[in-house]
Amino acid sequence: MAGIGKDDGERKQVTVLFADVSGSMDLAEGQDPEEWRKIMQRFFAILTEAVERFEGTVDKFTGDGIMAVFGAPIAHEDHARRACYAALQMLDDVADYAAELRRGPGLNFSTRIGINSGEVVAGAIGSGGTSEYTAIGHTVGLAQRMEALAEPGKAYLTESTAELAHGYMELEDLGQFEIKGASRPVQVFELAGVGSARSRLDLSRERGFSGFVGRGEEMAVLEGALERAQRSEGAAVGIVAEPGIGKSRLCHEFAERCRERGIEVFECQAQAHARSIPFMPVLQMLRSYFGIADGDSERIVREKIAGRTLLLDPEFAEDLPLLFDFLGVPDPHRPVAQLSAEARHRALRGAVCRLVRAPDRRESIVALVEDLHWMDEGSATLLGELISSVEGTKTLAIVNFRPEYSAEWAHTPTYRGISLKPLGPNDTRELIRDIAGEDPSMDGLAELVHERTAGNPFFIEEIVRGLAEAGNLEGERGAYRLARPVEDAGVPASVQTVLAARIDRLGPTAKHLLQAASVTSKEFSERSLGMVSGLKQSEDYDAALCELIDGGFLYEAELYPERVFAFRHPLTREVAYGTQLADQRAATHAATARALIELNPDRHDELAALIASHMESGGETLEAARWSARAAYWAGSSRPQDALRLWRKAMVLTEGLEETEETQAMAVMSRLLQLDFAWRLGMDNEEEARLTAEAEEIATRTGDLHSLALLKVATDVRPGMPHKAPAWLDAVAETIRLADASGDLHLRIAIRAAGSYAHLCSGDFEGFDRALDEVLELAGGDPRAGAGIIIGSPVAWATMAKGLVMRERGRLEEAEAQFNAALRVATEQGDPEIASWTRSNQALMLTMRGDLEAATALARRNCELTERLGDVFSRSLALSNLGGTQIAAGDYAGALDSLEEAERLYRAAVSDGDEMETWRAGLRSEALTGVGRAEEGLELAEWATGVARERDMLWSLPLTLQAVAIARAATGRDGAGIALDEAAEIARETGAMISLQAVETTRETVGAGHP
Ligand SMILES: Nc1ncnc2c1ncn2[C@@H]1O[C@H](COP(=O)(O)OP(=O)(O)OP(=O)(O)O)[C@@H](O)[C@H]1O
Ligand SMILES: [Mg+2]
Repeated sequence: MAGIGKDDGERKQVTVLFADVSGSMDLAEGQDPEEWRKIMQRFFAILTEAVERFEGTVDKFTGDGIMAVFGAPIAHEDHARRACYAALQMLDDVADYAAELRRGPGLNFSTRIGINSGEVVAGAIGSGGTSEYTAIGHTVGLAQRMEALAEPGKAYLTESTAELAHGYMELEDLGQFEIKGASRPVQVFELAGVGSARSRLDLSRERGFSGFVGRGEEMAVLEGALERAQRSEGAAVGIVAEPGIGKSRLCHEFAERCRERGIEVFECQAQAHARSIPFMPVLQMLRSYFGIADGDSERIVREKIAGRTLLLDPEFAEDLPLLFDFLGVPDPHRPVAQLSAEARHRALRGAVCRLVRAPDRRESIVALVEDLHWMDEGSATLLGELISSVEGTKTLAIVNFRPEYSAEWAHTPTYRGISLKPLGPNDTRELIRDIAGEDPSMDGLAELVHERTAGNPFFIEEIVRGLAEAGNLEGERGAYRLARPVEDAGVPASVQTVLAARIDRLGPTAKHLLQAASVTSKEFSERSLGMVSGLKQSEDYDAALCELIDGGFLYEAELYPERVFAFRHPLTREVAYGTQLADQRAATHAATARALIELNPDRHDELAALIASHMESGGETLEAARWSARAAYWAGSSRPQDALRLWRKAMVLTEGLEETEETQAMAVMSRLLQLDFAWRLGMDNEEEARLTAEAEEIATRTGDLHSLALLKVATDVRPGMPHKAPAWLDAVAETIRLADASGDLHLRIAIRAAGSYAHLCSGDFEGFDRALDEVLELAGGDPRAGAGIIIGSPVAWATMAKGLVMRERGRLEEAEAQFNAALRVATEQGDPEIASWTRSNQALMLTMRGDLEAATALARRNCELTERLGDVFSRSLALSNLGGTQIAAGDYAGALDSLEEAERLYRAAVSDGDEMETWRAGLRSEALTGVGRAEEGLELAEWATGVARERDMLWSLPLTLQAVAIARAATGRDGAGIALDEAAEIARETGAMISLQAVETTRETVGAGHP
């Protein structure tokens, strides 16, 4: 089988028990070996019998004792309880035997027992033909330590077992102990006896029930059935649901309502660990019916039985000896007739049915039988007869069971089945409100818990309790608040054992399928599961799928065009995943990746990240690196954060691989592209320097010119640096030279496009325009040429940027047409980044044209769209442009907000200056002056002017000078005119006609005393 090993072990939640003879060496010394052997054999027999009675497995004999496991190979949801029962029986039986030995050979003999619960790896171990099933893990060691710690004649258990057995067992807290091999002190308990709880519902009752929610319809069905019984029609109702859905609770609530109305209710319950004891539930029911209490003497019991039966029907006199005998109080004067076991059972069944059908009954009674799925055969047969005999009586029989039990009597006309559904989202919310309270800090918790538990109230209660224990919730039950966000809620041990037991009851193929499915995803197609599990579509496969659907593990989420299945329960998936060994899981992950590739030939790009993650979990590192790179490339500038994360992933994966041409290229590429996202998203300087150095080292060693050119872009050319125009332009020229030397056309285009920006910022519009023409010429009309190397589409960029030049030269109509064309290319090429820049430039163009309303609307819309990109560079740019349009519209306060946000965003990501900071500062200064903070405005504008001059950033210089002029005028200082003269001169020199116009307008307004 591909993907999944057959028998190489599983992770399981179990309880491990160690028992030994205390002081066996001393004992052995004074004893004839033969005699001693006999004693030990008897001792082992006692221990083994106790283990087997509670369906545990004797894992090994330890010389003077045993190790036993409960919950493996077959999981039992009550493994901890079973171990405790077995321990109690061992202590009793060994004590009896020890008394015998004291009287005989005069030996002093006792046993010590240690118990612990937790995860083990269970499976066959050994080599050749001698492999044996055994459990291994820390859990085992700790159980052994408990045994060593225990006093003679006592059983000690750890907090893990106590957590599961609490309430069912009486425990005495012995405090904390330092245990060798355990990292923290262990809370130790002594097993003192059987506790008062018999079912989970008893336990809930002890803890305090949560408020009862929902179940209106089901209650109505039960009420209807009761009415029928009251009309002497008789009725039987069966409630079916998975563990924890609330069968017992519904029955309990209904029983309480009946009792309040004076209707008698008799109950009994089958127990998982007591299946081997015949008729236990029937006995319980009869004791409840006759009102027999624990301390009643035999005579009283007989009187109770006789009194109740004879009042109903004197003919019961004949049945009395049998009933006495069955209930353990045989009447010495009326011995029961010698009958075969079979005949006795028949007689007993007859008597019980007659009790139900007794003609003189005036009042209705309710008989409640819980957990039929654990019923022994004798009781089950009796129950079947009882249900058939309620017809025409005043009896209402209510039973409940889990879906794996099939009731043969379900077709009886008086019977009605209710399949109990999980709680809906509203009921879940109400239940959580009841358990946890309504503190606003827990907003959203109900939805999270509902999603994880799929509305199973038991799971809901346990998860919330688990969160409180883990400290995520603080406060009191009913009034918690969130102290720590819930990231991984885990699966509480109590829930895990229930789910693991359900999974273990599946047939081997179904279980294998479920495990494979748990690795793949929440939803999967029939074909992909077939491939991943290695089970070709066969009858076996179909039958196993049916088993999983019928068992409520999976459901059909889609039928067309192909069958898709989904886990009904996220927790089942987690448990099924967790039961597998790492190797097996890894193999399935790899198989899942291959199935994804094979089954989705048209969707490789879109699935690349998922494929990569399965490959990684599957241990296929090279494949994982390749698919991560592909996913990163696909995310590109449209999803820069994903892209950065995926490139980082590809780099880390590559680090673990042997150096080959491919891995070297990948190592360089993954670093380069992370650097390429540094100017969009920000990156800390140290990391940037490290990535650069590493990439440079490999690229130089391998003579990779292509990468060296890109590295130069990343270190000296990219945006987001405090560039000085001359050096910047030199660096651009150098990268172009490197790119041309590499001969790679795409690279030549990409680098020219990226480098052209330096011309713009330095106010060299002619050089800018020339570079853009080169880009377009080299691309030869192919919009994909050079795409995705540094920016998305160089052609889209060049088309936009030529519009920018036109705008700066004051040719607004042409600029508009150009921007529209650029937007078309960017949209067609799936390049939201360049689309964003284009809209930014378009908004400013509209402002210059005087379309202020349209400009602000577009700038706002652009901010919204750009927000989704998650890219700091573009968002800051969009906000700055919005600020520009707001200033033009006279909304200085709004402008200041936008511009401060733009600045804050950029500064948080890029700390040491950038090519746009002077431009942003100029705008911000105007906004400051506009809101009456002209002193601050002046200071900022003068700073920006100084910086722009020093760096020769001639594009923004006229703007900052204009801001100086406005602020000077506003503060009543001289020199506004001088600043404007300089601004005009630079605008004229660079050919920025639009700036020149702006300067002249400002001259007029400043002259008129504005603002
Ligand atoms: N409608 C409900 N409102 C509030 N709490 C509920 C509701 N139904 C069940 N619960 C709680 O959920 C827990 C599990 O319920 P219950 O014991 O009735 O499940 P079950 O179906 O009988 O499970 P099992 O098959 O294991 O016996 C209990 O603590 C119970 O109080
Ligand atoms: Mg129950």
